[in-house]
Amino acid sequence: MVVCYCDCQPMDDVMSDSDSLDHEMDGETESFDTEPHPDLYRHGRRYSLTHLREHPWPIDEIEKDRLDDQHVLLRELFGERLYHAPIESPRSVLDIRTGTGCWAMECAERYPSSTVRGIDIVNMQDQWVPPNCEFWVDNLCEPGWHTQYAGIDLVHINQVRGDRQLLSLLLEGSSSCLTPGGWVEIWDMSVQLDDPGENSPFHRYIRKMTTAFARDGRQIDLPLQFGAALTQHGFTKVTEYNYNIPLCTQGCDELTEKIMQNWTAGLEGYSFTLLEKYLGKTFAETVLMCASARRALKGKIEGNLQIQVVYGQKPG
Ligand SMILES: C[S@@+](CC[C@H](N)C(=O)[O-])C[C@H]1O[C@@H](n2cnc3c(N)ncnc32)[C@H](O)[C@@H]1O
Repeated sequence: MVVCYCDCQPMDDVMSDSDSLDHEMDGETESFDTEPHPDLYRHGRRYSLTHLREHPWPIDEIEKDRLDDQHVLLRELFGERLYHAPIESPRSVLDIRTGTGCWAMECAERYPSSTVRGIDIVNMQDQWVPPNCEFWVDNLCEPGWHTQYAGIDLVHINQVRGDRQLLSLLLEGSSSCLTPGGWVEIWDMSVQLDDPGENSPFHRYIRKMTTAFARDGRQIDLPLQFGAALTQHGFTKVTEYNYNIPLCTQGCDELTEKIMQNWTAGLEGYSFTLLEKYLGKTFAETVLMCASARRALKGKIEGNLQIQVVYGQKPG
């Protein structure tokens, strides 16, 4: 079975049978990257040049490893659940903004009779995937992205990075491709400071990132509005879970430390492009700011890294 689609064109349409991109080996299917992705290298990090506007963050091995580790840590935080919505064995699943595809692949392995599709603008998923898992390359910023998906009973979305317009497109699309009674579940994280005006290097870093996000049309604490957004889009039984991770990387419980260390390991990648573009920060200034923020977290900062999980049901 061909698993990789580019620009929404089934590869069957552009490849003859003899050219088929599909190779099966030991029950796994090989997913090919068929689209040339021009890369942008900056300060030793790799970005997608074509999609820098939609995704101004690195897509390199460093970030992929960090996201894979984050997936394992969040799963542990969630008591080994892959999702919270009350659906026992989803048959047809979409993982939107799938990234490395680790959630999608694990979902496919856990529910072998389901079909799991991961969608991302960049093909950065593993080459070998379970036979019931597919990855599609698709731009979710395009209105109507959802028209080729139907009969879905679970849509999983992790991390919209403050993009309110995208959130709306994703929820509209999810509502349209879900089967009646199907579920959408969205996760993300945001920093909640007890006293946002404080003058620690961490507080200063968060204030700068809040400004840079806003100038990029993003809202850094958008996850706080997920519940309301689901309701506005017609979902019912909207349920929220908030996991509060103390802001410290030393002297807390092991899982907290690991989650915070994973999060802080991503600070530079998270910041470079936006701080340079909107606040004129040089590479060295951003490195210094991130290092100082990280150092401040070795002591305790009053507040939390809040991990929001919100799910809702499409009315039957
Ligand atoms: C922070 S990563 C999250 C990856 C994954 N959900 C996880 O938690 O590990 C966000 C992903 O969104 C993808 N993305 C950004 N803009 C997109 C768009 N317009 N359409 C589809 N995917 C997009 C990026 O390529 C990236 O893989």
